Formats: sequence, structure tokens, C-alpha cells
Amino acid sequence: MSRFTESQVRSAAAKAEELLAYTSRVGTGPAQPELSVEEILTEIQRCADLPFEEAQAMLPQAYTSQAFFDWEVNNVFKAEWYCVAHVSQVPTIGDFLNLDLFGDPLILVRDKSDELQVLSRVCPHRAMDIMPPGFGHDGHGPAEPKEGKPGCGHTRLFLCPYHSWTFELDGQLKACPEMQRAEGFTRSEVGLKRYRSEVWHGFIFVNLDGQAPRSVAQQYASLDDHLSQWGLADHKVVVEREWDCPFNWKVLTENFMESYHHAGAHSTTLQPMMPARDTWNEEERAHYIRCHLPFKPKLRQEILEQEARGEQWDVFPPIPGLAGEDRFEWGLILGYPIFTFLLTPDAAVWYRIQPLGPNKLKLLTTVLASPKARENPDFETMRAEMERQAIDFHLEDMEVCCAVQRGMYAAGHQRGRLSHLEMSIWQIQRYLAARSRGTWPTMDRPAAVSQKP
Ligand code: FES
Ligand SMILES: [Fe+2]
Repeated sequence: MSRFTESQVRSAAAKAEELLAYTSRVGTGPAQPELSVEEILTEIQRCADLPFEEAQAMLPQAYTSQAFFDWEVNNVFKAEWYCVAHVSQVPTIGDFLNLDLFGDPLILVRDKSDELQVLSRVCPHRAMDIMPPGFGHDGHGPAEPKEGKPGCGHTRLFLCPYHSWTFELDGQLKACPEMQRAEGFTRSEVGLKRYRSEVWHGFIFVNLDGQAPRSVAQQYASLDDHLSQWGLADHKVVVEREWDCPFNWKVLTENFMESYHHAGAHSTTLQPMMPARDTWNEEERAHYIRCHLPFKPKLRQEILEQEARGEQWDVFPPIPGLAGEDRFEWGLILGYPIFTFLLTPDAAVWYRIQPLGPNKLKLLTTVLASPKARENPDFETMRAEMERQAIDFHLEDMEVCCAVQRGMYAAGHQRGRLSHLEMSIWQIQRYLAARSRGTWPTMDRPAAVSQKP
């Protein structure tokens, strides 16, 4: 059980944000001179070239510089694939979900041919956001807002509230009043801009600059066999929580991907199940990091004994057919740069991280349940328990992430060395170094070997 309540953590995060506003106003101080993007990248490249045994934490300016964040937006986030949603969040034709991503107002919608489209919300007439957040247009005209979910809705078409142009669900302009005298204007040639998108194992990705050299399926192909066991396309998001987070996206992804901190932040929640010292990373890959968090032997024994008595140890019924290690561990995956998820023997957990600046992000934490779990008559009780557990360990992560971001600005900041249990932190540096050279890890140097011989 976490030491904090959710409301405690939410108000502590707001407090941390206030303190950060002060710190970023007074500057980073002489201990941390302002560095150019080139200087930050040169230092990241230098560290990425070191052997893992000499690895150290990234320089603090990589977490505080606005210019570096802007570099990441253009060279990492817009250039790569970003996961916007799971198919179960837009299950029926006409369902849509709005998301503002790196300055682009977007709609994810299931169109009339049952295809998922990622469209711009910017009207091709005079640039109105057709559903501007906060102005009550989430359910404008014929669209119905989904209860309690701002930015989500269901509609037959999209209506721009400015001059009432209407658009089909695939973005095509349907009607535009009083345009008959505009010479050379052809309605069929006009529509909301469509972004390149792809569905992979039930997750919907967008590539904002349209230039990613590989498809999602190609870049994550070596995960297919493993993921297929869960049948994630048939899962459903059954827990969703939004968090305003006063920290850099790398503070969160690094925290998500190293389990050394089970020994500290999660000492009473995760450490007793999955001790930090047993966690390990697979060999380095070009497009993702994969870590294993094995259950401790005593716990495996308990699970086997309970199952022999016909009892269920997991919160949800375990995913059918999981064998060997997959039945007795959690698996962490970071699809570069920011597709963050976790597979457990009975569920999947996905974090949508939406970076908003060097020290700000919006986070959606979710839990996905299998059809078998959802069919269970006790599903609602199980779901509530799963939600409690997922929030419990997230509250512990919120504490450390808020506090780490503040440390990045401090005059007393010192860069630390990394434990062998923090290989992901070093791999994220190697990813950024590779991106800065226009390539990907393992394409620019030999892959780091697996930590399990
Ligand atoms: S700006 Fe959308 S109809 Fe004019
Ligand atoms: Fe954690």
C-alpha cells in the first residue's frame, strides 16, 4: 500500500509545479550554465560512446532547456511514431478523441468505413480549430460529448463553428455555404489534413511529419510473437486517469524503464514481488527497450500452490496460454521515443505521455483488460482492485519524478553514475545520440548485449 493518498500526491505535484515556475524564472544558476542544443547533444553523444560500465546520468540541461525540448519535438516526437490511443477508446463508427500534440490540434476518429483516421482540427477555410478545447465545442452541433471525458465524443460529421463548413468523418469537406462564387474552388479537393497513422496490436500511432522511414509494424516486428500471446487488439482500456506532471518526459520514461528504484520508491509495493536486483534488460534494439522483472522464487511457489487449489492469484484471470517466464514476471517495453507499456500475466498497462515543455507533461495512465477478464461475473470488483493497485504504485513514482525534476535546476545538482540495473537510462542516451546523427541505436554501433547470459 502506498504511503500517500491520491489527493496528497495531486496537491504535492501542483506545489512542485509552483516551485519549478520560480526556479525556471531565476535561471539555473552558475552551477548549470545555459548550453546550446549542439553542446547538449555533443555531451549526450560523448556519454553514449562510453561503455555501459562507465555510464552516467544525462546532463541536467537535457531536462530543463527549452531549446533542447524544441529539438526533441522536431527530431524525435514529430519524426517518429507516437501512440495516441488504443482501439477500444474509439470502438464504434463516429467515435472520436481530440488530442493536442506538439502544437497540432488533432482528432482521432473512426470513419464510416470503420478505418481509424488521424485528422487535423484546423479548418481549411480560415484556420479555426473546429473543436477548440475549453470553449464547449466538444459536442458541438451533432456531436455528443462522452460523459466525463473531455475531448471525446461521437458524431456523424464535423462542423466548424466559425462559418459552418461541415466535414465527413474521413475529413472530406461535405458542405460549405455561400462558396458558389469562389472561382476555381472545388469542394472535393478540400478537407481536414490527414496524418499518417497505423494500428499495431490495437494501439493507434501517428507520424506527424509523415517521414518515418519504417512502419510501426516493421520497427517493432521482433516484439510480435511475444505480444501476440496477450491479444492486445481485443483488450479494452478499463482504467483511465489523467495527471498533470511537472517533469520532463525523460524523467518519466527513465523511471518507467528502470526497476532499480523498486528498492526505494516501491519498497513496500513492488520490491517484495519483483526485487530490483533480479531485473534485467534484453539486448539493445534499434526501436525499443525491453526489460524483465521476474517474480521472486517464493512468490512463484505461492502462485503454483494457489492455482493447484483452483484459486486465482492474479487480480484478473491470467492471459490464457502464457508459459514459462511470461507467467511469472512483468515485462516493460519502451518503443522509442515514448510508447511506454507494461505487460503483466493478467493485464497490460499503457501510459500516454504528452510532453508539453521541458518541465511539463500530461499523462494518461491506463489499464487494459482481456475479454476473459471482462466476461468474468466479478469483473467490476477485479477492475476496482486493479485500479487501486495501478494508482498505488503510480503515486510513488509521481513523488520521485516531481522531486527529480526540481533537482535538475539546483545549484547543488551533481551528475551521478549508473548502476547495472539502470541500463535503460544509458540506452535512452544512446537513442538520443543516434537520433542526433540521423540514425537509430544498433545502426550506428554494435548492439549492447543482453544482461541475461
Ligand atoms: S474557419 Fe471553418 S468554416 Fe470558416
Ligand atoms: Fe516506479
